[in-house]
Parts: sequence; C-alpha cells; structure tokens
Amino acid sequence: MQISQSPDVTYDDIGGLEDQIREVREAVEAPLVDAAQFETVGIEPPSGVLLHGPPGTGKTMLARAVANETDATFIKMAGSELVRKFIGEGARLVRDLFELAGEREPAIIFIDEIDAIASKRTESKTSGDAEVQRTMMQLLSEMDGFDDRGEVRIIAATNRFDMLDRAILRPGRFDRLIEVPEPDAEGRERILEIHTEEMSLADAVDFAALADETAGLSGAELASLATEAGMFAIRDDRTTVEYDDFRDALAKIREEEDENTGPIAFV
Ligand SMILES: Nc1ncnc2c1ncn2[C@@H]1O[C@H](COP(=O)(O)OP(=O)(O)OP(=O)(O)O)[C@@H](O)[C@H]1O
Ligand SMILES: [Mg+2]
Repeated sequence: MQISQSPDVTYDDIGGLEDQIREVREAVEAPLVDAAQFETVGIEPPSGVLLHGPPGTGKTMLARAVANETDATFIKMAGSELVRKFIGEGARLVRDLFELAGEREPAIIFIDEIDAIASKRTESKTSGDAEVQRTMMQLLSEMDGFDDRGEVRIIAATNRFDMLDRAILRPGRFDRLIEVPEPDAEGRERILEIHTEEMSLADAVDFAALADETAGLSGAELASLATEAGMFAIRDDRTTVEYDDFRDALAKIREEEDENTGPIAFV
C-alpha cells in the first residue's frame, strides 16, 4: 500500500481536461473541504468517482492532483496488487485499505486499474476467478458501508470501462463517472507546452501546428514525443530543440505505431 501525504502533481500539470478537473473537484475536493455545505443543503456527495478513458490520457495524474490540492492522506493501490495468491488475502487487503483510510481521515483512496478486480464474470472457470470475485465483493461491501466512514473519498480509474462488472456502478458505489478522452487539438497544444517547459527550444517551434499534426496521440505519447525530439537534437549535437526535431520524432512515433498495429498475419 502506498501512502503519501501529498503527491507532487498539480492541476496546472494537466493539459486540457478542464471539465474533468472541475468535475473531480466538485465530487472529491468540495465534500472534503466543505462538508458542512453538503450537510446544510442536505445531500450526500457522490460515493465513488470512476475515471475512465483510453490509456495515457491523464487519469492517474488527475487522481494524484486532486489529492495534492486537498492535503488529504492519499492511499493508492493498483487493482493488480489486490489480486493475491492465497484465499481471502485480497479481501483482507481491501478491508485494511478502508480501515487505514478511516484512521487517517480526511483521506482519498485511489484504486488504479480497477478492472483487475472488477471485470465482468467470464465464462472461464480458472481457479483465480472466484478469489478475484471475493475481493470485489469485499470492495462493494466496504463502499456500501461508506456513510459511517466520515471524510473518506474514493476514486478509481480504468481504461477498460467496457469490461467492468456493472455491479460496481450502482448508486452508492462508483456513482460518478468521469470520462477522460484523448486530447483535442487545443489539449494537445497545452500538453506539448507543459512537457517542453524545461526544454531549450528554438524560437520557431510552433505548437499550434504541432497540435494539428499530432491528432490521435495521447498525453503520454505527446510527453514521449517531446523527449524524443530532444534526443534528435542531442544526436545532432545541438543544445536547442527545433521544430524539425519534433517532426522527426513524430515520424518515428507514427512508424512505431504502424508496426504495432499493422496487418496481422493469417494463422
Ligand atoms: N492531460 C495530460 N496532460 C499532461 N500530461 C499528460 C496528460 N495525459 C497524460 N500525460 C502524460 O502521460 C503520463 C501518463 O499519464 P497517466 O498515467 O495519467 O495516464 P492514464 O490515463 O492513467 O493511463 P492508463 O489508462 O494507461 O493508466 C503522465 O505522467 C504525463 O506525463
Ligand atoms: Mg493510469
């Protein structure tokens, strides 16, 4: 289990996603910071927030940023870490997770890659399935008993929304869904700016043009585009990174993409 007082990501480090940031703040931050207002208005804040969307779009970043901005204890666990070898071990970890959060409130529990324990029941009858199921049931029962737990918020993330067991989406569980999409041109421009902030750039690097050329790239791919562009400059023995370095880097990334998604040979 990873506990930290405050992860180092801020909202400013996240490009695009303004709506998603606002929604997360409303659902997670506001109830922690201003619990009294929810009480006065007489509504329960959402129980759990589920961030979902394609890989590398900023879901994990967003969860870390909200924890950073609230001073809440941040307890992070990957779904895969909850899949254990011995019977009952995963369920016990889930119990410990919520108990620890209760002791350290205000706290945010973040379960990343929740699909590892909350996938739809499959046809296969492999021995691990029943155990994974048990772990998920424990999570659901902890969430159902959430009301008495005070200032604990729960966030989960997945890039396999289609695979999730619908039981976890019921009211009182993960009842606030926030979709984190791939960045649009404006978002890509902002992400490129963020990831090149520390780089020595030639004046002629036009981020708006780069944003247009990078359609389909995720935030994570844009981050590696910036690094790769820097590598081209170094190879060329230069100290500033030029527009053409970004274009070369992009060509390389596109090429790798083609190799990975190329036609599959007949079997
Ligand atoms: N919106 C964004 N703004 C800035 N950087 C981003 C953004 N999205 C992704 N990145 C970069 O990509 C890296 C990976 O992002 P993150 O881990 O948040 O993706 P994710 O959505 O959780 O992906 P996965 O579904 O694969 O877990 C970040 O550390 C950051 O460098
Ligand atoms: Mg992630």
